[in-house]
Amino acid sequence: MKTLGYAVVGTGYFGAELGRIIQRMDGARVVAVLDPENGETIAKELGCQVETDLEQLCARPDVDAVVVATPNYLHKEPVLCAARHGKNVFCEKPIALSYQDCDEMVKTCEENHVIFMAGHVMNFFNGVRKAKQLIHEGRIGRVLYCHSARNGWEQQQDSVSWKKIRAKSGGHLYHHIHELDCIQFLMGPATEATMVGGNVAHRGEHFGDEDDMLFITLQFGNNTYAVVEYGSAFRWSEHYLLIQGTQGAIRLDMKDTGVTLRTPDGDEHFLLHRTKEEDDDRTLTYNTKMEMDGAVLYGKPGKLPPMWLHGIMEMEMDYLNRILHGEPVSEEFRPLLNGSAARAAIATADACTLSLREDRKVMVSEITG
Ligand SMILES: NC(=O)c1ccc[n+]([C@@H]2O[C@H](COP(=O)([O-])OP(=O)(O)OC[C@H]3O[C@@H](n4cnc5c(N)ncnc54)[C@H](O)[C@@H]3O)[C@@H](O)[C@H]2O)c1
Repeated sequence: MKTLGYAVVGTGYFGAELGRIIQRMDGARVVAVLDPENGETIAKELGCQVETDLEQLCARPDVDAVVVATPNYLHKEPVLCAARHGKNVFCEKPIALSYQDCDEMVKTCEENHVIFMAGHVMNFFNGVRKAKQLIHEGRIGRVLYCHSARNGWEQQQDSVSWKKIRAKSGGHLYHHIHELDCIQFLMGPATEATMVGGNVAHRGEHFGDEDDMLFITLQFGNNTYAVVEYGSAFRWSEHYLLIQGTQGAIRLDMKDTGVTLRTPDGDEHFLLHRTKEEDDDRTLTYNTKMEMDGAVLYGKPGKLPPMWLHGIMEMEMDYLNRILHGEPVSEEFRPLLNGSAARAAIATADACTLSLREDRKVMVSEITG
């Protein structure tokens, strides 16, 4: 197998771990990293070079693919630069903080005939793949409604992370776009959106300016709906995705980790992640008293992702590496590689944002044109 060269731009919490995973994969090698603060440390750990100039990094002949794991508002420049240099791209979620930027990033990759993979990692959960399979087999009939909640309580931190600043992260909706993306994978793109909410309990210099309570309703046409709830002002933390069909329902529980299929014949249980150990590890993470409550937990440079998250990152990077080695894109993951998942997620998020701002229901077509 040919060894492909990867570069990682942004080697904080997530980029560093993606780099470690790539470095251990067959047919892959991290040749360089770029990160003004944490590049040197990770380069030493990975045994690769440090670049300080994005153009130079992307121009390197030994770089076949660029992994972008910078803060959310800084994804665009490295993605465009990599694509213009003919390098394949993997970009962390949320791809962008506006539909316009997202569209430009996807189009630039298309025009330069490079692969663009969106880091919507939830699609690699064993339980999400199982749910898609059960739906495909008709086990719950026609999907009518999805309900997701991803919330918890944010304590005051030592410093205010960029993840808590609306202009840098997009706030809970964009930063935790996983559920919105997953629902659209299951139900197709939403056609209409409403969002209400605000910053109800985290104002002041010790907190960011993101809204800590968001309530979203989505319509998909054909009498199908979703309700999505996000935020860090919930003392009773919840994290789940419930899929209601005409013949049954599926609940993916990210806290008391596992998947349940409920039909008139009774309940069947499945793993959410690769192994029971990974599921139990996630349950423990959410139930251990940490600096942040449950579903609004976030990492920072130097911190290692928990076992279950490391597991899905491995699956995601393995898939990317196989695609870059010429494996055909599977039907299941096609939306992650043809820009449609990226565009659909950001378009709907933008529709929600506009709805909140103008206090009205928004057609997603107002965003996509
Ligand atoms: N898929 C997931 O579940 C998941 C989980 C965590 C983070 N992420 C995503 O990964 C990305 C990074 O998040 P994180 O948790 O690692 O954040 P982080 O703050 O830990 O790391 C960000 C890194 O980017 C570096 N950086 C800042 N500006 C840069 C620039 N212009 N060029 C290069 N590097 C720059 C910082 O120095 C820092 O090391 C975000 O887009 C985030 O949404 C995804």
